[in-house]
Amino acid sequence: MDQDAMKRQAAEAALAYVEGGVIGVGTGSTVNHFIDALAGIKGQIEGAVSSSEASTERLKAHGIPVFDLNATGELTLYVDGADESNARLQLIKGGGGALTREKIVAAASKRFVCIADESKLVDVLGAFPLPVEVIPMARSHVARALVELGGTPVWRDGFVTDNGNLILDVHHLEIQDPVALEQQINAIAGVVTVGIFAQRPADVLILGSAQGARTLT
Ligand code: 5RP
Repeated sequence: MDQDAMKRQAAEAALAYVEGGVIGVGTGSTVNHFIDALAGIKGQIEGAVSSSEASTERLKAHGIPVFDLNATGELTLYVDGADESNARLQLIKGGGGALTREKIVAAASKRFVCIADESKLVDVLGAFPLPVEVIPMARSHVARALVELGGTPVWRDGFVTDNGNLILDVHHLEIQDPVALEQQINAIAGVVTVGIFAQRPADVLILGSAQGARTLT
């Protein structure tokens, strides 16, 4: 079974958590499988709040209504992928650059179901370069502060987020205390959001694997 089939398996398993109403929907190739599967039961939901322009487009192409988060109130469910997860379901996200909206929708949701292939489960977060969304004028200032924290920031050149900002991908971090580093990086002037999801981790992690979908809580 290849990695994409494992992603699809995890995405399809997440349908069991859909109970109707408006659902928060994340971004990425795993979530694309979820959106495609959700289309098969779209009559059971009112619609979705989306974390990116790309997911909005895909949802609409399937005829699933997309709502502004300001119009929905708190959501019961958010389904999104991850670049890494540890066993405590603390995540690195933002490989697709949608981390800020993803963090907002996760914060506004009662239950966060994370879907991924089994390769995303790690002992210590940080082998995947940590995305940080940055206000453009603060790029160099934030990069220097990230170097002081022990990382090697690399500008994702040519990439602009849906919010009009830049991404620094921080290499060479071994994140032993995700909650503390999330707070520390978010406190740097010019940082919009860091892609550590530890203060609000996932509630459920579904991992696709050759042996079948495995669920961690
Ligand atoms: C986008 C994300 C994605 O969830 C993350 O990059 C995982 O992507 P994929 O499902 O394609 O492996 O955080 O900002």
